[in-house]
Formats: sequence, C-alpha cells, structure tokens
Amino acid sequence: MAGLRIVAEGRVSVVTVNRPDVLNALNTALLEELLATLEDLGSDPTCGVIVVTGAGDRAFIAGADIKEMDGKTPLEARDYSELGQEIAHKLETMRKPTIAAVNGYALGGGCEIALACDVRLASENARFGQPEINLGIIPGWGGTQRLARATNIGYAKELILTGRMVDAAEALERGLVQHVYPSAELMPRVMELAQQMASKSPVALYYAKESTNRALHGDIGGNLVHEADLYSLMFSTDDAREGLRAFVEKRTPTFIGK
Ligand code: COA
Repeated sequence: MAGLRIVAEGRVSVVTVNRPDVLNALNTALLEELLATLEDLGSDPTCGVIVVTGAGDRAFIAGADIKEMDGKTPLEARDYSELGQEIAHKLETMRKPTIAAVNGYALGGGCEIALACDVRLASENARFGQPEINLGIIPGWGGTQRLARATNIGYAKELILTGRMVDAAEALERGLVQHVYPSAELMPRVMELAQQMASKSPVALYYAKESTNRALHGDIGGNLVHEADLYSLMFSTDDAREGLRAFVEKRTPTFIGK
C-alpha cells in the first residue's frame, strides 16, 4: 500500500516514500503523512537524524502528483503550495539533521524536497530537474529560492526556465548534491554519514544547523553576532563540558543533548 515507511536504525530514522507505481509522486495524503511524521520525529528524543528516500530503484520522488494537480482551483493550488513549502521548511529548520538519499528521479517537488534537506547524497542513476515549466506552471515548494541558493542564480534560472533534467555527475559538479555513489553503495554511505552525525551532541547539532542556515540569508554582521550568541550559549550545556573534557582526558565523549 502507498504511504511512508519509517524504520529506525539506532538514532537514525529512515523515511521512505513508498508509491513506486507512480515513481513516488507525492499526493496530498502522502504530503500530510510526511508532515505529521516529521513533526513526530522532530519531538522524538530517540531520533537524532532523519534520512528521506524513495522506494524502489527508479525514483526518489518524481514530483507532486500531476494527476491530482490537474483541475485544482487557484485556492486549492495555494494550499498545495503551502503544504509542500511547510514540509520543506521543516526539513530545513528542524532541530535534527536531514539527509536526502536521492536514488533516482528527483523532479519538481522531489528536487525541492531534496534541496530542503541539509545534505544530499545521490546514486549514479539520480536525475534532478524542475520540469514544471513543461506543464505550464512553476515550482511551488521552494524551488525558485533553494535551487539558486544551493547552486547559483543563472544555473537555477536555466533549469527552471527550460525544465532540463540533469544527471548525477552534473548535479555533483554544480553543487546540487554533495556526493554521488553507485546505486548499491548509496544507502550504506548515507547511513554511515547519518550515524556519524547522530553520534554528536543533539544540542550542538541544532545550534550548528540554525547558525549555518543563516549563511545565505540576511546581513553577515547580524549573523555573526547571532553565531557568537549561540556559541556562548553552548557553554551552558553539559554536552560542551563533556566534549571539551573528553578531549583533554583522551576519551570518547558521551553526549546527552543538554
Ligand atoms: N505525478 C503523477 N504520476 C506520475 C508522476 C507525477 N509527478 N511522475 C510519474 N508518474 C507516473 C506516470 O504517469 C506513470 O503512471 P502510469 O503507469 O499510470 O501511466 C508512472 O508514474 C511511470 O512513469 P512513466 O512516465 O511511464 O515512466 P518513464 O520512465 O517513461 O518516465 C519520468 C519517467 C520521470 C521522466 C516521467 O514519469 C515524468 O516526466 N514524470 C513527471 C515529472 C514531473 O514533471 N514532475 C514535476 C511535477 S510538478
């Protein structure tokens, strides 16, 4: 049955979009399930890192469900855009690292969900694109903003205005993804990265993410003051005391997220 599969491996939760007959296209029911799942995992202290991927070996997410979009009124389309944007915003700003394991087509909304994750790892058969222009519409889940921020504005405009699909090698060259692996290696490498992050202090991960999120927004002066504020706040945590002391005592730190 279509839906999400959620599997925990230690402190890493893998969320798999499971609708392979339509290349994991996201309809409203799946979007609502995804939002509720991210909210649950966000407040679950046993979950440290979230991985998003697609079922099967052909697609990460082939986009919003085109059949469902066909016939929407402007007000319904607005709700649909806001729902997708809310999920993207959550992936980008939630207190835990989010990793996209892109195992095939990441088109339209799929590319936008991947771009909202903190880090993107892809298989060699991954394909990225914002093909909305071919449907007579435009990206609506953040693609017009995050693609330019992840790459550059000229490249983002090229892809958004043509709908051109790019392969994993080009995505890597352009900084759209951080690493590309043969298909069989993708999940082991994603889990290795996720477990590495999950071993860190949860509170340090959150503040590191929050501060880094500001890098492409606003005024650098204000952002540096904010960084210094968060940096000093870290010194009120047990985890900072433990991490610094463990280094001095030449042992592995044990973090508790406080
Ligand atoms: N929404 C709804 N259904 C989708 C879909 C989407 N975004 N993407 C793929 N599907 C469905 C197809 O309609 C097809 O269903 P069917 O078997 O009932 O006809 C099934 O998934 C398999 O896709 P198909 O097109 O037959 O596979 P393909 O290998 O020939 O092409 C793609 C793969 C990804 C190039 C092609 O499916 C495609 O262009 N999809 C749309 C991508 C898109 O525009 N996404 C952005 C939406 S805003």
